Amino acid sequence: MVYSDRILCGPMVRISSLPFRLLALEYGADIVFSEELIDYRLTQCIRVENDLFNTIDFVVPGEDRPMLQIHKGREKGRLIVQLGTSDGQRALNAARLVENDVAGIDINMGCPKKFSIQGGMGSALLDHPDKVKQILETLVNNLSIPVSCKIRCLPTLEATISLVRTIVTTGVHAITVHGRTRDERNNDQCREAFIQRIVQECPSNITVIANGGSTVISSYSDIEKFRLRCGPCHGVMLCQSAMWNPSIFRPNGLLPIRDVAKRFLEISLEFDNLLPNMKYVLQRMYGVADSQNVFYDRILATETEAQLYDLFHMKDEYEQSMIGERQLWREKLRSRL
Ligand code: FNR
Repeated sequence: MVYSDRILCGPMVRISSLPFRLLALEYGADIVFSEELIDYRLTQCIRVENDLFNTIDFVVPGEDRPMLQIHKGREKGRLIVQLGTSDGQRALNAARLVENDVAGIDINMGCPKKFSIQGGMGSALLDHPDKVKQILETLVNNLSIPVSCKIRCLPTLEATISLVRTIVTTGVHAITVHGRTRDERNNDQCREAFIQRIVQECPSNITVIANGGSTVISSYSDIEKFRLRCGPCHGVMLCQSAMWNPSIFRPNGLLPIRDVAKRFLEISLEFDNLLPNMKYVLQRMYGVADSQNVFYDRILATETEAQLYDLFHMKDEYEQSMIGERQLWREKLRSRL
């Protein structure tokens, strides 16, 4: 049930950290995904309850920044952790660490990056249905929470359907289909007809989520149009259109990017987000909203958090956050960075 009839904010490396996920939830996303976490890296983490932020942090000993931070209240029942893996047992070890804190586990079977493919992860799995089966069955048979996977299309419909037939035998709750092949880029057309056929192929207890529509989704109502064209399928996952302006999840319409950016910076203060992540996310937002790149360049030029908050006329909020318990915690962390 966690996946069905939902609008989801999908996994994005360097974007989908806690502040961005909370922003997407605040604007109306039903479910949010973590960025892809590599299984063996996650298994190195210890689980720490962070009372100051009301979060559960997964931290590699010796590293001060958590690899994953989950909000105990605001993300309850709404966070899916995505894993990069090439092996069922390793994925299970990683999933068990977070099992009690998340709503589901997703396996990335679409990443075309060299790092993933060389490790037999991401889209490398699309060529190995036996591996896909081993990973998904190991998770489904041993976890108490729903399991899903995110695939890309194979070059032919027949090959794609054949893979889907394998996946549906494993007991997964949901399949997200990015309607492009491994060799296609995000500006290539999304293969909506492939997704439509996959919906027909899947039994009714499996949720099919369409992904890859961001280039044609620029308003809330476009989400439903995309869903209908892709089946209709049972859910839509947005990535880039959420990255460009996360208020896309608002039924009442998009907010100006400056308002969205300011809210992102407020949440970032709440969780002590670091300058590189704030700049990265804001640059992705302004890369599209600001066609002249004027503000983009000004964000790029900031060298301190104080400068960044000043750019958005939020100096007071920033200085306020530097007082008291939060500040002591910051200093402790940074002295070890
Ligand atoms: C991605 N994508 C991605 N996919 C995935 O399964 N795990 C990940 O960690 C990432 N990371 C990531 C980072 C960034 C910055 C982008 C833009 C994309 C792919 C993403 O989830 C999605 O499949 C594609 O962007 C297509 O969907 P949209 O953007 O058309 O909604």
